[in-house]
Amino acid sequence: MGIFESMNILAQLQRYFREALADLAGAQLDAARLDEFADMVRPSQDRKFGDYQANFAMPLGKLLGRPAREVATQIVERLNAGINPSSLDPLPQGARGAEIGDMCLPPEIAGPGFINLRLRDDWIVRQVMDAAADPRLGIAPVASPRTYIIDYSAPNVAKPMHVGHIRSTVIGAALYNTLKYLGHTVISDNHIGDWGTQFGMILFGYKHFLNREAYEQNRVAELGRNYRLVNRLVSYFEGKERLPVLGLRIQQQEAAIARDEPAASGDQKAEKMLRQARRSLDETRNELSELQAALMAFESDKTLSAAAAEYPNIGSRVLEETAKLHAGDIENRRLWEQFLPACRREIEDLYQRLDVRFDETLGESQYEHLLAGAVQQLLERKIARTSEGAAAVFFDDTPDASPFLVQKKDGAFLYATTDLATIQYRMNRWHPDAILYVVDHRQSLHFEQLFKTVRIWLGLEHVELMHISFGTVLGDDGKPFKTRSGDTVGLSGLLDEAVSRALAIVSQNDDAKPGGPELPAIQRREVAEAVGIGAIKYADLSQNRTSDYVFSYDKMLAMNGNTATYMQYAYARVRSIFAKGQADLGSISIADTPITIDQPAERALALELLRFGETLAAVVADYRPNHLTNYLFALANRLSTFYERCHVLRAETPELKRSRLALCHLTAGTLQLGLKLLGIKVVEKM
Ligand code: ARG
Repeated sequence: MGIFESMNILAQLQRYFREALADLAGAQLDAARLDEFADMVRPSQDRKFGDYQANFAMPLGKLLGRPAREVATQIVERLNAGINPSSLDPLPQGARGAEIGDMCLPPEIAGPGFINLRLRDDWIVRQVMDAAADPRLGIAPVASPRTYIIDYSAPNVAKPMHVGHIRSTVIGAALYNTLKYLGHTVISDNHIGDWGTQFGMILFGYKHFLNREAYEQNRVAELGRNYRLVNRLVSYFEGKERLPVLGLRIQQQEAAIARDEPAASGDQKAEKMLRQARRSLDETRNELSELQAALMAFESDKTLSAAAAEYPNIGSRVLEETAKLHAGDIENRRLWEQFLPACRREIEDLYQRLDVRFDETLGESQYEHLLAGAVQQLLERKIARTSEGAAAVFFDDTPDASPFLVQKKDGAFLYATTDLATIQYRMNRWHPDAILYVVDHRQSLHFEQLFKTVRIWLGLEHVELMHISFGTVLGDDGKPFKTRSGDTVGLSGLLDEAVSRALAIVSQNDDAKPGGPELPAIQRREVAEAVGIGAIKYADLSQNRTSDYVFSYDKMLAMNGNTATYMQYAYARVRSIFAKGQADLGSISIADTPITIDQPAERALALELLRFGETLAAVVADYRPNHLTNYLFALANRLSTFYERCHVLRAETPELKRSRLALCHLTAGTLQLGLKLLGIKVVEKM
C-alpha cells in the first residue's frame, strides 16, 4: 500500500513543504501560518507547470522581507536535501517514510517564485499497481477514526415529501457513505418531524374534512389531501393578515424614496442607497401582487372559500389540536398512533427507491419526555430566563438577534427545545466527536443559536457541531421549483418522471446500436431506474451545496457533461471492453500486471486515479460531495482521452494490452466506488 495512510498525494506533498517551511522560517511562523502556507500547495491548473504547484513564495517573501524567488530557492534546497523521515510526525501503522525524491523529480522554480513539482513516472506506476491490487483501491481506513452523527433527510412525515427533501437526503447519504468508507464510526439518525404542527393539521383535517371511504382505501393519500387542504386554509388567513402589512411597507418605502430623491443626484453614495431602496420597493410590490393573485385564486375556488367561511379561526384551532396531542389527550393520541405507521411507511417506500437507509429514526416525538427537564435546567442555570411568561435564551453578544425561544407562554415546547434535548440524548448515548445537520439554509439562525446554547449548557468543547447548509431547488423561472398548479413538487412523482425519461433515452440508444438492440425490456427498465435516479442525485450533488440550482431533466440526463449518465456510460464502456478482452487476459490477475505509462494519456489517467484519496479527504474536510463529482468527471474525461489516443484491445504488444486493461480495470473500479459513495448505481450495459 501507499506511503501515508490513504493514498493522498496532496497531503503528503504538503507535509514535505511544511517541514521545509518550518526549517526555513519556523521562528517567524506559528503552526497555523505554517499550515496556511503548506495548504498553498495545490494541483497545477495547467499541466505545463507540472503536476502540483506551490504558490506561497510571494506572500512568504513579503512576510520575511526577502525576494520571493530567493525564498523559493531556499525551500527547494531544503526539499532536495531530503527530509529526514524521523523528524516528521509519527507515521500511521504500516506506513513507511519516504524522501520527496522518491516521489518527485527535482522541483523547478518558475516566474517570480512558483515551485513546480512533477511526480516521477516510476513512483506513479508503483502506486497505481498497488491501488489495482488493493480491494479498497488504495484508500486505507484512517488511523484515528472519529464518531460522527449525521442528522439528515428528516422530513415532517404528516405531509408528502417534496423536492426540497431530496437535497438533505442525498447530500447526507453521500457524506455518510464517504465518512464510513474512510473508516469512521458513523450513525445516521433521521430526526423525522412526527410531533409538530403538521400533526395538528391532519388531526383537524381528519375531524372536519375526512372522506372516510378514501381513507379506508389509502390512508396516506387521504391524510395528505387533508394536510394540504388545512394548510391552504391556514396560509390563506395568514396571507390576509399579511396584506395590510405589505401595503403599509410599500407606502413607507415610497415615502422614503420621495424624500431622498431630490437630494441624491450627484451624490454617489446617496444614489446607491436610492437604487437599493427602489429594488426593495420592487420586491415588496412583487410579493404583494403574488400574494393578491394567490388569495384571488383561493377565493375563486368555491369549496375552499366555503371552508374558509366555515372555519375562520382555523389557525388557532390547529394549534389547539397540536397542544391537545402534546398534553396527552386520549383521542388525539389514539389518532396519532393510527396515522404514524402509515406516514412512516410512505417515506420508507421512497427511501427504498432512493436506496437510502438510516441506522436510527428517532423522531421528534421520542424526546417529548425530556423537554420539561431540559428547560428547567436551562432556567436553573440561568442560561434561559422567562420573559412575558415564555422561556428563552438571550445572547448578550448579539443583543439585536431574536432570542432563542425554548418554551412558549402557553407552556408549549418548540422545535428548538426538541433539538436541545436531542443533543443531550445523542451525547449520552454515542459520545460523538461530531454532529452534522444537513438542513437547508433557511434554518441557519436556528442552528447558530442551538449550538451556542448547547455549548453553554453542556460544554462540548471538543465536539464539532456543524450545520451543513444548502440552497434551494429552483424551476426554470428561477423561483422555488413548483408544479404548474403552484404546489411543491412531490418527490415520488419526480423520480417517476426522471425514470420514464431515462427509459426513453436508454431505449433510443439501444435501438441505435450498430449490431441491433442488446437489452431486453426488463433490463432496459432496470437500467432506466439506475440512470433516472442517479441523474437526480448527481445533479444535486454536483452543485456547490450552498448555491441554489435549477432543476432540469434535460441537463441532468445529458449523455455528455458532468452528469451521472456520462459516468455510468463511461463505466459501461470500460466493462464492455473488458468483456471482450477478458479471454485474452486469461487467468493472470490484474494485480500482478505490470503497468506502463509512456503515453501522456496513460500517465494522465494514472495520475488522476491516484487523486482519489485526496478527493475523499477534501469531501469530508468541508463536507462537500461536489469535490467527488468534479473528480469523477475529470477521471471520465481522462479515460475518454486515453481511449482516443491509446488502443486497448489492439495495443502494439500483449504486455501493453494487459497494462492498459489493468488501467481500465482500476478506472472502472474507481468510477464504480466513487458513484457508490454518492449513492449512485452503475450498470454493466446501457
Ligand atoms: N423536520 C425539519 C424540517 O422539515 C428538519 C429537521 C432537521 N433536523 C434537526 N435536528 N433539526 O424542517
